Amino acid sequence: MIQRTLSIVKPDAVAKNAIGDVLAAIEAGGLKVIATKMLHMSKKQAEGFYAVHSDRPFFNDLTDFMSEGPVVVSVLEGEDAIAKYREILGATNPDEAEEGTVRRRIGTNIERNAAHGSDAPETAAFEISYFFNALELHQR
Ligand code: CMP
Repeated sequence: MIQRTLSIVKPDAVAKNAIGDVLAAIEAGGLKVIATKMLHMSKKQAEGFYAVHSDRPFFNDLTDFMSEGPVVVSVLEGEDAIAKYREILGATNPDEAEEGTVRRRIGTNIERNAAHGSDAPETAAFEISYFFNALELHQR
């Protein structure tokens, strides 16, 4: 099934000059980047994006981190894109991620873990619509 998913190259990976590395891993993994842009979220915007985690103990730190610098958000498309991108990223905690995955190679710890990928079709739909409007998704 052809799916879309949202990718975020997080502030830690952008600061490490690893934007191209993450996008290259996406393309090498067989997914297409159909829209992309760089932006710097405010604390409020990061809180809105991670609203599902608002009751978690790490919510404040996570939203501080996600608003500390620019990110690169992209919409990826391809066969089973949601699961495929999560494979490319590896486990949430870089220490537990498989060798060669994005988080293993670029991430630092469970919070500063280099990149985000949607975890299900419903969250992908919400996350894509959080950053991209219909016009931006119909360029190709
Ligand atoms: P992400 O894929 O962006 O989705 C939610 C994020 O919360 C996750 O990656 C991690 O960066 C962060 N996160 C998840 N669990 C923890 C944790 N136990 N401590 C700190 N941050 C976490």
